[in-house]
Amino acid sequence: MGKDVIVACDFSSARQVFDFLDKFTDRKPFVKIGMELFYAEGPQIVREIKKRGHRIFLDLKLHDIPNTVKKSMAVLSNLDVDICNLHAAGTARMMSAALEGLTRPDGTRPLLIAVTQLTSTDSEALENELLIKEPMADVVMHYAENAKNAGLDGVVCSPLEAQAVHSRCGKGFLTVTPGVRFADGDIGDQKRVMTPAEAKKVGSDYIVVGRPITAADDPVAAYNRCIEEFVD
Ligand code: C5P
Repeated sequence: MGKDVIVACDFSSARQVFDFLDKFTDRKPFVKIGMELFYAEGPQIVREIKKRGHRIFLDLKLHDIPNTVKKSMAVLSNLDVDICNLHAAGTARMMSAALEGLTRPDGTRPLLIAVTQLTSTDSEALENELLIKEPMADVVMHYAENAKNAGLDGVVCSPLEAQAVHSRCGKGFLTVTPGVRFADGDIGDQKRVMTPAEAKKVGSDYIVVGRPITAADDPVAAYNRCIEEFVD
C-alpha cells in the first residue's frame, strides 16, 4: 500500500456516515472507523462500508490481557479490515498475541499499528499520574521500537514525529499521522499540526484527516485537495 489519505469518519450513526460517503462517486476514500461509530452501529457498519469498496482502518485501540486481545483481533481480522490498532502500553507480549490473533489461516492479515502515547497525555500527566519519568519524546520512540520489535507494521504518531520514527525503526515502518490541517484552515482542538504537503515532505505514510474534510462545505473538494497535496 502506498501513501494515502485516510478520512476519519467520526460520526455517530450509519445514516450520517452513508450520507457523507455517498458524496464520493469517483475515488472511494480509505476511511477510519473509530469507537463512536463502531459502538453505535456494531460490526455490521464495517461490513457495509467494506462492501461499498472502501479500505478501512478500524481504530479501536485494543489494550487488555494478551489472550483477550488475541481472540478479539481474530474477530476483527474476519471483518476484513485493512488496518487495526492497539496500545503499545499493553506490552510486547500483548502485541505479539495480537499479531497471532490477526493472522488468518492463509497467512494474510490486516496491518497492525500501535498507539504510543496519546497526544492528549501531556508531560505532566506522564510524570505525575503515570509515574513515567523519562521525557515524552523518549517514551514515544521507545514504545515505537517495542512495537517494531514485536513485529508490528507501524505507529500512529504526530507528523512532527514521523522522521524520528523512521530513522529509529526504519523507512518501512509505517507512520500514520493525524493532526493535519490546510494552511488556510481552522486548527480546532488540535495543537501541533502540519499541512498535507508538509506531512508528505517529512515522510508520513498515511495522513488521517477528519474535520477539514467532514466539516467542509464541499467535502469531496477538500478530500481531493488532500490527495493532490499528499499523494499526487
Ligand atoms: O478532525 P481531525 O482531523 O482532528 O480528526 C483526527 C482524527 O484522528 C480523529 O479521529 C482523532 O480521534 C484521531 N487522532 C488524533 N490524534 C491522535 C490519535 C488519533 O487526532 N494522536
